[in-house]
Amino acid sequence: MSKAGKTFVCSECGGHTLKWQGQCPACGAWNSLEAGAAAPARRTGYAGEVKGLRLAELEQTDIERVPTGIGEFDRVLGGGLVTGSVVLIGGDPGIGKSTLLLQAAGGQPAAHKVLYVTGEESLQQIAMRARRLEVATEHLAVLAETCVEHLLAALQQEKPACVIIDSVQTLYSEDVASAPGSVSQLRETASQLVRFAKTTGTTVLLVGHVTKEGNIAGPRVLEHMVDAVLYFESESDSRYRILRAIKNRFGAANELGIFAMTDAGMREVKNPSAIFLSRHPEAVAGSVVTVSREGSRPLLIEVQALADQSSGGGNPRRLALGLDQNRLSMLLATLNRHAGVSAYEFDVFINVVGGVRISETSADLAALAATVSSLRDRPVAQTTVVFGEVGLAGEIRPVAFGEERLLEAAKRGFTHAVVPRGNLPKKPLQGIQITGVDYLRGALQALALT
Ligand code: TYD
Ligand code: MG
Repeated sequence: MSKAGKTFVCSECGGHTLKWQGQCPACGAWNSLEAGAAAPARRTGYAGEVKGLRLAELEQTDIERVPTGIGEFDRVLGGGLVTGSVVLIGGDPGIGKSTLLLQAAGGQPAAHKVLYVTGEESLQQIAMRARRLEVATEHLAVLAETCVEHLLAALQQEKPACVIIDSVQTLYSEDVASAPGSVSQLRETASQLVRFAKTTGTTVLLVGHVTKEGNIAGPRVLEHMVDAVLYFESESDSRYRILRAIKNRFGAANELGIFAMTDAGMREVKNPSAIFLSRHPEAVAGSVVTVSREGSRPLLIEVQALADQSSGGGNPRRLALGLDQNRLSMLLATLNRHAGVSAYEFDVFINVVGGVRISETSADLAALAATVSSLRDRPVAQTTVVFGEVGLAGEIRPVAFGEERLLEAAKRGFTHAVVPRGNLPKKPLQGIQITGVDYLRGALQALALT
């Protein structure tokens, strides 16, 4: 910055320019530049020590974790709330963020003071909800405040061990001119809260709204600043909710927690495999069960395919829900070239049951098996599980944690498995007969689909 007082500030993103322009060069917003005061001192999220220290000299301290009393939530967090960490929880409106956090506030140990700060609901509404959910409230205080400076002053006095901010989009800082919820407000308020968390050891939970595009409003700005980012997902009309860790400095990313929304609030789903399998009375064509491993545990998930005569005139439809769309096109090309099964005259739809999104490649083989099963109208036995990555040469590649997946399948009563040869366990597993395959053709043979 050349001279103080000569900059223009974007009210959308907080970017600075030296001369006025119609469009902000940083975020592309129109007419958002305003003659600003001097660039405010750049504040960063956290810098605790000012001098470099040798790692070996640093004392090894175990991080302290506080349970929230909700097992699934604790697991997604990596084993409970880490003292002094900042966690962002995003999700569509009405998905249950406030409900879960209120329950998590009540579930913390009684000696743990929790302050629930709301900018969205009245204190009476929260009190009513807490009563209805039968949340323990002795250690729980509520505060209606949207100015971050006032909030921090209150926190200095109250000294809670954990603060819940519902939501971060309603907070504003007096130092920033733009409206609450704008990127520059989010950046400023969040960075003040992060600094507060790190210097005082207070745990901060931030609720974040999700935009139409599915990002937490304030593109990525918040995600970089916080220690963990959790997203709530659900299918539109399902009462099941999936909490997924997108980023976690203190635990496994991609960890999943499964809840059901009931009239008594969020209830944990203890045996999640059950909800991802639809129970057909007998085997049906187009349905194949796979074992996915999202996060730290294996999950049995049903992959369904429907291949239907295309009317698109050489332009068949490919639609994948819960799997990557581009990957589906690639897999279907592999199927044609390396197993001689053409789907060009068919529209192919893939659906992962239960609204879960599989982000790993282990579901490739199940997706193709389900497609061929639908094409040929030939079911795969209900007691068979299938997993493995399909390569472009038609090879079936091993995936991580093969044995763990097989054990889970055996535990849930599956008696047969078709898996990559590289995933064959060294010793046979009890109760499950495992066939190792090298190529797609062999895999379809093992499943009696050729
Ligand atoms: P809420 O936690 O307010 O969602 P968010 O904070 O993510 O916007 O939950 C809202 C929905 O949940 C609302 O439509 C009512 C429903 N709900 C229940 O079904 N059971 C309950 O016990 C509670 C508190 C809410
Ligand atoms: Mg809410």
